[in-house]
Amino acid sequence: MRENDLPTERILIDCDPGHDDAAAILYAARHLDLAGITTVFGNNSLEATTRNALSVLALAGLDIPVHMGAGRPLSGVEMPAGDLHGKTGLDGAALPEPVTSPHALSAGEAILRHAEAGPLGIIALGPLTNLAQALEVNSGLTERIAWISLMGGTTGVGNSTSVAEFNIYCDPEAADIVFRSGLPIRMAGLNVTRQVGVGEEEIVYLRSLGGRLSTTFAGLFEFYLERSRTIFRLQKASLHDACAVVPLVHPDLIGFRKANVVIELVGRHTRGMTVCDFRGVALKDLQAITRSQESNVEVAVEVNGEKVVRKVFEAIASF
Ligand code: BDR
Ligand code: CA
Repeated sequence: MRENDLPTERILIDCDPGHDDAAAILYAARHLDLAGITTVFGNNSLEATTRNALSVLALAGLDIPVHMGAGRPLSGVEMPAGDLHGKTGLDGAALPEPVTSPHALSAGEAILRHAEAGPLGIIALGPLTNLAQALEVNSGLTERIAWISLMGGTTGVGNSTSVAEFNIYCDPEAADIVFRSGLPIRMAGLNVTRQVGVGEEEIVYLRSLGGRLSTTFAGLFEFYLERSRTIFRLQKASLHDACAVVPLVHPDLIGFRKANVVIELVGRHTRGMTVCDFRGVALKDLQAITRSQESNVEVAVEVNGEKVVRKVFEAIASF
């Protein structure tokens, strides 16, 4: 896709805000016509992530319907809220009260309704539960979803466990359904998203852009940076979720390679791992070498982190 070759599909963002989700929503909203936002548990409870989505929209003066989705993973086991994003899921700045309520249609209903109305593109920034549930309800949905661009997984080191990334680890069964669906998937995992970092210097730059949005996000990122330092010993907080928006609006800033990706569901130490096969082994019946399955995912392998941060900041400051 070229720089100005924007997608023609209806687009939904499925998310669990979350600091990096909040930034990604505004980055996407600046460049794309968003048909709706669907929310899911993850960085906090469903109620908190939904409220955060509504508050971010109120802050930016955006009128986009928000549809509530799943409050727990397919396995039914309650997930504790993560520590990275604070008590509210979006600590670090006073956000405005929501000016609208969640839409009467649930996330699953909204996905089905939009898919029926025309080809749908989904930017997924949290656990994949909403999408997996919609696919289970209506198997014909795969024909009507044009693409999914997701933040999740990793080709290497994980964050929830040594090998599993948070969004996938929160609901591996849902991720398994989505990755086996045959949908065109672009996956931006930790191997690239950790290169899109906001440190002290970047926060000073964001403040220098001036305006209410920049100041509010500078405060949010200060909190997120402190937590990233304390929990992961990182010098920069990662704008993970923006990386799922990049291929749609600044495709020159991210590079992909095809791979076969499967979700590990049972491994004692590896549950939630995105097992990426880049080998392309063609022959079967080789000794001690298994054949590669057909590629089902375009996996992000390179990103221009500095430029992505700039683009996201420009979008935030533009509201
Ligand atoms: C993912 O987990 C969440 O904390 C972030 O919002 C991002 O979607 C990174 O592993
Ligand atoms: Ca997220």
